[in-house]
Amino acid sequence: MTTKKRILTGDNSTGKLHLGHYVGSLENRVKLQHEYETFILIADMHAYAYPKYVDKPEVVSQAVIDVATDDLAIGLDPRNVKIFVESGVPEIYELGIIFSMITSHARVMRNPTLKEELKVKDMGENYSLGFVNFPILQVADILCVKANLVPVGEDQIPHLEMTNEVVRKFNSTYGKTFEEIEPLVGRIKRLVGTDGNSKMTKSLGNTIYLSEDKDSLRKKVMSMYTDPSRLRATDPGKVEGNPVFMYHDAFNPNTKEVEDLKERYRTGKVGDVEVKEKLLNALEEFIAPIREKHAYYDKHRDEVIDIIKEGTKFTRIEAQKTLEDVREKMMLFRI
Ligand code: TRP
Repeated sequence: MTTKKRILTGDNSTGKLHLGHYVGSLENRVKLQHEYETFILIADMHAYAYPKYVDKPEVVSQAVIDVATDDLAIGLDPRNVKIFVESGVPEIYELGIIFSMITSHARVMRNPTLKEELKVKDMGENYSLGFVNFPILQVADILCVKANLVPVGEDQIPHLEMTNEVVRKFNSTYGKTFEEIEPLVGRIKRLVGTDGNSKMTKSLGNTIYLSEDKDSLRKKVMSMYTDPSRLRATDPGKVEGNPVFMYHDAFNPNTKEVEDLKERYRTGKVGDVEVKEKLLNALEEFIAPIREKHAYYDKHRDEVIDIIKEGTKFTRIEAQKTLEDVREKMMLFRI
């Protein structure tokens, strides 16, 4: 029996993971994987909460493999970490239904991340019941293994607040069953896109993938947005809010170099090209080992599938225990 506390976190299986995922949650997963018993979820049912994936099962199922490969490529150790797929643990759905009974509809509709997605993704009135329920499905993901710590990007905090509301409501109604969870937000709250848009996201096409190849990395970095009001290298430029410098701060470990570039940028003594070239070097150094590991797992797909199967089997047994407990507390019929 392990006495370690548990981490649960994960990603929707809608595509490959990018640098935004890295600074939000992946970095903390890797750092804490030995300190905690770690469960990494690949949320395939969550993908279907979004109308644009409903008729794309091939995309969603391919992304399960892609996301698992990214998790392995960044250095999660499959001997320690359980990587599992949501649809392989149907107890999550059962918990989700149960939690939906003790959460008001109005409360879900007040969830700021859900509200934001409704607006940004322009779904009009075409969003599904499942979409409204996705924060509750996420609560079920987290509580199915009675997790303690949930490393996420800042945008996920409202879902974690709802998780603790469900914990309190469940405990006060049916008796103490769950512990409140603790959120852990990444070192960088929110990584802007390469276009300076406030969020790096596939739907805006402003991402750099963790497995980005060398040529496209160069193209993406060299066409990044900088200070739009600076026309010549001799103009004083703005460092704050400048995407290229935000990436330097996030990914360039050579702080001396970064400080020097900032100083010269502010005083009009360096061109965008040099700033970008140096960022490219830093990013290439960061991505190269990930890309290499990624290539290994691409070649050994069976290994990836086995890892997911093992992780899912293990997680399911834990989820069954949780559900058993929940059913008993709610005096659901025993068969
Ligand atoms: N909704 C999360 C995202 O969009 C992914 C996710 C699903 C998740 N279930 C989770 C994250 C449980 C943490 C815990 O990135």
